[in-house]
Amino acid sequence: MMIRMFKTTAIASVLSLALTAGAQAAEEVEVLHWWTSGGEAKALNVLKEDLESQGIAWKDMPIAGGGGTEAMTVLRSRVAAGNPPTAVQMLGFDIQDWAAEGATANLDELAGAEKWDEVVPAALQRFSKYDGHWVAAPVNVHSTNWVWANKKVMDELGVTEPPADWDGFIKFLDAAKAKGYTALAHGGQPWQDATIFDGVVLATGGADFYKKSMIDLDPEALGSDTMKTVFDRMKQLRGYVDENFSGRDWNLASAMVIESKAAAQIMGDWAKGEFLNAGKKPGEDFVCFRVPGTQGMVTFNSDQFVMFKVGEDKQAAQNAMAKAVMSPKFQSAFNVVKGSVPARTDVPNEAFDDCGKKGMADLAEAAKNDTLMGSMAHGHSAPAAVKNAMYDVITNHFNNEVSSADAVEQLVNAVEGAQ
Ligand code: GAL
Repeated sequence: MMIRMFKTTAIASVLSLALTAGAQAAEEVEVLHWWTSGGEAKALNVLKEDLESQGIAWKDMPIAGGGGTEAMTVLRSRVAAGNPPTAVQMLGFDIQDWAAEGATANLDELAGAEKWDEVVPAALQRFSKYDGHWVAAPVNVHSTNWVWANKKVMDELGVTEPPADWDGFIKFLDAAKAKGYTALAHGGQPWQDATIFDGVVLATGGADFYKKSMIDLDPEALGSDTMKTVFDRMKQLRGYVDENFSGRDWNLASAMVIESKAAAQIMGDWAKGEFLNAGKKPGEDFVCFRVPGTQGMVTFNSDQFVMFKVGEDKQAAQNAMAKAVMSPKFQSAFNVVKGSVPARTDVPNEAFDDCGKKGMADLAEAAKNDTLMGSMAHGHSAPAAVKNAMYDVITNHFNNEVSSADAVEQLVNAVEGAQ
């Protein structure tokens, strides 16, 4: 009896010790991200609430400025000071760069137990793993070759079907402009210019040309006449933006379409998050279609939470966050709000609206047909140095009197110099 009592008490105190230790260790995650727009914040809340329900507090570290360039600069100083955040939103090649520096945690044990290898597509694993080890938990798949159009404006213009090709797109933009709308809602920031560029490269040269120029960085493709046409088309699009476009945040450009001031925006599917957040419905208030001429092709980016090397006291919370991010239920709930599609292949599409369902179907089809390609603008086709060099050329051409021939030459040189 005595022994039994002793045993019970001992077990109880060991248990309570373990629980206290667990509760302490799992108490907070500090997360660096650039999800500051209304739709993005709403999506992020899904994660915050999920973690809070597990007793894990959220320390927010938002760095405005989509595309992540500013966020990476802030991260650099935190890592240099030996005080990295628990988790960092990150894109493609940046993940590999940070892992190569030895700054990231090893998630193999969790990934093995949760069978991530079986459910995360190879195109994402290529970035989530470094040297064969899991360092990041992919939270979504976005894609950049989308157009978000105002349904009322389309109706007014008598446009019943999305334009099928470039000429059709230009006709649509002309018609909108003639009616006094800003035809193309755009924010003049380098990453946004580059997002349009992704779509124009794909529409102009097709998947093979995109791969050769943006992924293989083949100088011949970069310097080709096709690339000259790409720059001609970028200048063509420049003619459809309003005069206040310079420096405008992407979500304010989305708002112009939402408020029927502009006809359309070329933007990744995070734009859908803004439409939904404003209470707009796909098919009724807005229409999503692929950049005309890029049907059947997808340029993707995947936001991943890269886990950094933190002290032992923070690792339980870090693991809990990685586990939460990868749960199928969470991946559905989050991506429905965010505008993206799940990073796991086993999440049902029931909860998704028509644009989301199309996004999931397009992704699967493109993966099957080898027309799924990493977005240059969002760090999935080439390392940051090359990406930033391309940004400079694209933005300079978009804003200044630079001929397409000169831009092509600059692009070849910039890419060569950045490697
Ligand atoms: C992208 C990111 C998206 C979205 C967008 C604008 O780079 O992948 O999730 O946040 O920037 O902020």
